[in-house]
Parts: sequence; C-alpha cells; structure tokens
Amino acid sequence: MLDKLFRKKTVAADGSILDRIAEVQNRPMPAHVAIIMDGNGRWAKQRNLPRIAGHHEGMKKVRLITRIANNLGIKVLTLYAFSTENWKRPKPEIDFLMKLPGEFLSTYLPELIEQNVKVEMIGNFDMLPAHTKNAIRKAMDETAHNDGLTLNFAMNYGSRLELVESVKEIAALIAEGKIGPEDIDENLIGSHLMTAHLPEPDLLIRTSGEVRLSNFMLWQLAYAEFTFMDVLWPDFDELCMLNAIEEFQLRNRRFGSVEGKGTV
Ligand code: IPE
Ligand code: IPE
Ligand code: MG
Repeated sequence: MLDKLFRKKTVAADGSILDRIAEVQNRPMPAHVAIIMDGNGRWAKQRNLPRIAGHHEGMKKVRLITRIANNLGIKVLTLYAFSTENWKRPKPEIDFLMKLPGEFLSTYLPELIEQNVKVEMIGNFDMLPAHTKNAIRKAMDETAHNDGLTLNFAMNYGSRLELVESVKEIAALIAEGKIGPEDIDENLIGSHLMTAHLPEPDLLIRTSGEVRLSNFMLWQLAYAEFTFMDVLWPDFDELCMLNAIEEFQLRNRRFGSVEGKGTV
C-alpha cells in the first residue's frame, strides 16, 4: 500500500529531460510547491561521511530545484530547511546548518538576482545567530523587487509555534477591543500566519521515504496534494521534481465537492 505512495526516480524512456519538461508544462502547474528536504544524514552515512557532508550536498540541490521551479513558472517554492525541533541536534551540526544560508547565498545570490528570484523566509527570525540573520536579510533586501519565483525558506520554522503566535495576535486584537470573537474566521487566522501573503501550497513533496509532516505547515497544507518520495534529498534531481509535478497534475482535486456536478 505504502509502495504506491513512494515515487522512485525514473528516467524518461528516451532519456530526454526536455520532453518531460514540455509534457509537464502542457498541464496546469502548481502555484506553490512545498518541500520537506529530508535524508541528508542518511545520504552521508551511506558514504561513510559526516552528516554535514549530506547537508552540504543538499544545498547544491536547493540551487538545482530553484532553477527548475523558476523555469517551469512555479510562483512559490517553500523549502523546509530547519525546524523548531532541529535545535535538539548536536551543536556542531546545528552550527553547520546555521552557516549554510550564508554559504548558499554568498555563492548563489548573484544568480538568484539574475533569475529574478525573490528570497523570503518563514520561521522565528529572532532566534537565529547574527551571521545567519545577516545573510538572509541581505538576500531578502536585494531581491525584494524581483517578481519571478518566490524562494521561501522555512528556517527555524514550526507550524505549532506559528499557530500559537497567530492566536496571541488575535487575542491581543480582541483585548484591545479592535475585533470581537465573532470576527474570527478562517481568513482571519490565515492572515495572521507567516504565509499570509502567499497562496496555499498545492503540492507537498517529502523526500527520504518518511511519511510525516514533522510540524510543517499544518494549516496551509489542508488541501495540498502529498507526494512522498523514496529518494534522499541530496539525490533529488530535476527528474524527481518533474515526477512529483506530473503526479500532482494527474490527481483529481475535489476540495470536498464531487466530479461532474449536476449528476446525482
Ligand atoms: C534533512 O536531513 C535536513 C534537516 C533536517 C536540516 P536530515 O538531517 O534530517 O537527514 P536524515 O533524516 O537524518 O537522513
Ligand atoms: C524535518 O526533517 C525538518 C526539515 C527537513 C528541516 P527531520 O528530519 O527533522 O524530521 P523528523 O525528525 O524525521 O520528524
Ligand atoms: Mg531527517
């Protein structure tokens, strides 16, 4: 049963990626793709390398997948880079993960600017080390006017924390008498989340074979299509991305309604 959920890496029959891109581009594209980039540690372990080697390799895949997402015309790509639970990891690993945004952006920011990509972040910014904040802030400032793909890093992000913060904001509005409890609806809650300005994800991809959300976008993913792929993030490539999008395009999204309305 679970095998059906896993999408293995497949190469097009004729080996041509351009044909696959053309096929996928002929069908409606998801506006927002969210990815839980998982499996860096296992990728490194398979090679007898330290876990951080897997994170470093994974960073290169962020560049690759950003390029293809932008070329395909996807509007928003949210990448889960560090969760509020990842602080439980050993300090040297955390330190390395906190340096990755700086390394990624110092290497690839010029190319992101050239590609008209806009860098954004969701998550608790204040708790990040100063050097991480500086790198992210610089990238956000320098790409603020770009209107191609929004590359949204979920960094020190946790969905429950985000919901707690939004509840506090709404409670404060009520305490100040600006709104009443009767004004609370789905739109109001959505407008107090960190993703308020973004469309909801259409497609969620999790790599590494794990089948869980790990505190990622619990509210926003209410009607997303999920794909769980048996590929470690550092092995994720354009074909994996195309496979996931194709899988999404062949799904039937009903949003609680029925097909062929009018027939009973
Ligand atoms: C995902 O890879 C990257 C982060 C969570 C930062 P992992 O580091 O979780 O890799 P595995 O799951 O141990 O293989
Ligand atoms: C989720 O992966 C977080 C990120 C990919 C950043 P984890 O590897 O931390 O998740 P668990 O611990 O397997 O649930
Ligand atoms: Mg993991």
